[in-house]
Amino acid sequence: MASLPNRSTVSKGKYSLTDFSIQRTLGTGSFGRVHLVRSVHNNRYYAIKVLKKAQIVKMKQVEHTNDERRMLKLVEHPFLIRMWGTFQDSKNLFMVMDYVEGGELFSLLRKSQRFPNPVAKFYAAEVTLALEYLHSHNIIYRDLKPENILLDKNGHIKITDFGFAKEVRDVTWTLCGTPDYIAPEVVTTKAYNKSVDWWSLGILIYEMLTGYTPFYDHTPMKTYENILMGHVRYPSYLHPDVTDLLTKLITKDLTRRYGNLQGGPQDVKNHPWFSEVIWEKLLSKDIETPYEPPIQSGVGDTSLFDSYPEEELDYGIVCPDPYGKLFGDF
Ligand SMILES: Nc1ncnc2c1ncn2[C@@H]1O[C@H](COP(=O)(O)OP(=O)(O)OP(=O)(O)O)[C@@H](O)[C@H]1O
Ligand SMILES: [Mg+2]
Repeated sequence: MASLPNRSTVSKGKYSLTDFSIQRTLGTGSFGRVHLVRSVHNNRYYAIKVLKKAQIVKMKQVEHTNDERRMLKLVEHPFLIRMWGTFQDSKNLFMVMDYVEGGELFSLLRKSQRFPNPVAKFYAAEVTLALEYLHSHNIIYRDLKPENILLDKNGHIKITDFGFAKEVRDVTWTLCGTPDYIAPEVVTTKAYNKSVDWWSLGILIYEMLTGYTPFYDHTPMKTYENILMGHVRYPSYLHPDVTDLLTKLITKDLTRRYGNLQGGPQDVKNHPWFSEVIWEKLLSKDIETPYEPPIQSGVGDTSLFDSYPEEELDYGIVCPDPYGKLFGDF
């Protein structure tokens, strides 16, 4: 197995808050928000994810956050978000990324209710290549879901949010992810590995084709119970090939789960549902996308993102910083 590229993951002093003017909020999460920003130097648009240090410490996510920064700095793939650098002030951490203009796959899916078979297949195939890349570098992603898959101006995917990504050589135990997408071996806090991402790929394909997740319930506890029961209803309108693939991804049995077997990702790529995919062409984006986001590129168009109430920002304030040393690489 290849190890991660041996390059420096530290980029101190490269950026600061004064390099950007903040335009608006693109998304919010448990630890902070993501803003559309404009560089005062080259006038280009970027996205900056801001995390509150106190909140990260309170929620015991220090290691995950340092991992997120390190993973993002290392990965380089057409279907993964690119991060340019990071910095911090007394209260917050900042990550500067490319702005991906086409919005979340989640929004497109909710608007469409469900995707036709070829559309779901296209997005699933790009996700498969991204997972293959991450796993070949011993990174488990652990948070695959439509909210974390963005579409670029041409309609290719960019996976964002490496908040749970981790470099793992053997196995790990942490319970994390999003209830609907969590694999049974994570729910039962068994040791687990890359297998969890292939389970989530199954859930993602299922949701793209039906408009809902297979184990959905109002409460996470009930959802976990459903996951452990493992009963999936496959609507009759699903193509038999995809139903077959889904039974091989959404299986509790790790000795049978595709992606996790001797053949690795190749078993998934060679499955009949993907038979018409030309993987090399897809990787070089030499394939027409099923949907071109209706946006004007390069001008900070945010029409495909939801709007969020803007808050008074506490960025750039100089005050005591008890947690700075926990995030030394930012
Ligand atoms: N590079 C980007 N370009 C455009 N929008 C982005 C970008 N990165 C994030 N977003 C938007 O912001 C939202 C939240 O970002 P992200 O998923 O990284 O954080 P989060 O879910 O709050 O993190 P966590 O899961 O760690 O709480 C995304 O779902 C997406 O809508
Ligand atoms: Mg997210």
